[in-house]
Amino acid sequence: MDRNKVICRCFNVTAGAIEDAVKAGATTFEAVQAKTNCSTGCGCCEIDVRELIEQLKK
Ligand code: FES
Repeated sequence: MDRNKVICRCFNVTAGAIEDAVKAGATTFEAVQAKTNCSTGCGCCEIDVRELIEQLKK
């Protein structure tokens, strides 16, 4: 996984930031939103964020 890849352009949230949030216990989409702000703007990254969370939980 490329940790530097920006997943949420609205808030400049990287895959690494999402990975850290999941590892810190934010294992739902809503929890990751609360922790990183990702997907709280235009919402167009929601599918990518949800997919990434699922991958990281495996
Ligand atoms: S790209 Fe994530 S909320 Fe817009």
